[in-house]
Amino acid sequence: MLANLFPVLLLLVPSLCQYDIATVEYYVQLITDLYKNGETYEWPTNAHEYYSNTKRQKYGSYDFVVIGAGAGGSVAASRLSEIESWNVLVLEAGVYGDNATDVPDLYTPVRYTNYNWAYNSTPQKTCCLGAQNQICLYPRDRGVGGSTLINGLVYARGYKSDFDRWEKFANDKRWGYDSVLRYFKKSENFVHNDKQAPYDPAYHGTGGYLQVTYHQPQSPQLNAFLEANKELGFEIADYNANKLGASPVQTNTNASLQGSPLRACRKHKNLSESYWYCAIRQVSSNLYHPLGTCPMGTDPINGAVVDSKLKVFGFRNLRIADASVFPSPLAGHPNAPTVMVGEQLEDLVKLTYNGKYD
Ligand SMILES: Cc1cc2nc3c(=O)[nH]c(=O)nc-3n(C[C@H](O)[C@H](O)[C@H](O)COP(=O)(O)OP(=O)(O)OC[C@H]3O[C@@H](n4cnc5c(N)ncnc54)[C@H](O)[C@@H]3O)c2cc1C
Ligand SMILES: *[C@@H]1O[C@H](CO)[C@@H](O)[C@H](O)[C@H]1NC(C)=O
Ligand SMILES: *[C@@H]1O[C@H](CO)[C@@H](O)[C@H](O)[C@H]1NC(C)=O
Ligand SMILES: *[C@@H]1O[C@H](CO)[C@@H](O)[C@H](O)[C@H]1NC(C)=O
Repeated sequence: MLANLFPVLLLLVPSLCQYDIATVEYYVQLITDLYKNGETYEWPTNAHEYYSNTKRQKYGSYDFVVIGAGAGGSVAASRLSEIESWNVLVLEAGVYGDNATDVPDLYTPVRYTNYNWAYNSTPQKTCCLGAQNQICLYPRDRGVGGSTLINGLVYARGYKSDFDRWEKFANDKRWGYDSVLRYFKKSENFVHNDKQAPYDPAYHGTGGYLQVTYHQPQSPQLNAFLEANKELGFEIADYNANKLGASPVQTNTNASLQGSPLRACRKHKNLSESYWYCAIRQVSSNLYHPLGTCPMGTDPINGAVVDSKLKVFGFRNLRIADASVFPSPLAGHPNAPTVMVGEQLEDLVKLTYNGKYD
């Protein structure tokens, strides 16, 4: 069932105070309707339901065809199209976002619309045990923007050690931290809107398309959380600057726009350990960060699908630039690294053409 509407409205209304009452009423109605329609919405049982039945059409010929305008594909297509002599076609299965997908953190009700491919996991043995048939939900977005249409907008790149591991898998310095940092900075437009919050300019870009700010409005609990961390001796640090510490969350926002499964665990009387072990397996979910299904590596015999230039082994003109090429998980969230992968694609393609494209 859908979560209660109330907390979302509480979150939304303070940030709308700068707007007139008609706009506020419009959004309250939009969200109310979204939740109401969600109650009767039926997810497709098979993504084939989304297949187009239109006849084949002639689109002309293109230098590059980008399939899927998600976090990786949109960035790759945008950068490739900066080269004027290159013709780029983007094929996206879904439509553009709308006023509902534009509202940050509305992903719970937007899941109950056809912006969601609505995949399911196979039945699990160690997690989602409290879910029906032990199947985890596996939402992925269908539309221009891909899963960024309904994601949580958390901007967390991961740490140096993560990318040094990628460099080893790929056997190419291009995926090591010093190299990927350049692309993180190229993609980013950091706006230091909260002067109290930590910011290390050496690690942030300001000219890119992906806006990053400190989340506003701040929750009343934030200061208590930061103070508690200080008391415990932790630093308040910019976690996207390869530092460990506590911090308010950096998000892809643009301020100018502005129970019951636990019953299964009752028999575990020992709260310190076995109860929580049981509870975590019941209520855990996957946080919707799947990655690494076409991992980058050096040898297809060992499971690598693309090489360090993102080329699919065994194909001449096919590359993949999305979250599926991650060779290993990160101590961050996948969206920023996916954008970074998309940013790299342009330079990789340029390398292939050796400057002969103007
Ligand atoms: C609910 C939710 C919350 C999340 N929260 C965060 C967060 O806070 N921070 C974070 O960093 N990450 C978060 N993520 C993850 C992040 O959004 C993804 O890792 C990222 O979008 C992956 O990018 P991608 O390019 O690999 O795929 P996507 O962005 O999913 O793009 C794939 C695109 O391909 C299209 N497509 C698929 N098949 C076809 C086809 N046959 N023909 C044409 N087009 C096709 C799809 O419609 C889609 O547009 C979240 C994800 C979800 C679902
Ligand atoms: C989206 O919201 C804006 C107000 O923020 C409104 O002017 C516009 O008409 C809305 N679009 C649609 C399609 O309802
Ligand atoms: C932020 O929003 C403003 C107002 O719509 C827009 O002009 C600007 O380009 C946006 N910035 C980014 C990086 O998206
Ligand atoms: C409860 O768990 C603690 C921590 O593992 C353990 O030391 C203790 O012996 C357990 N108590 C019982 C009754 O099992």
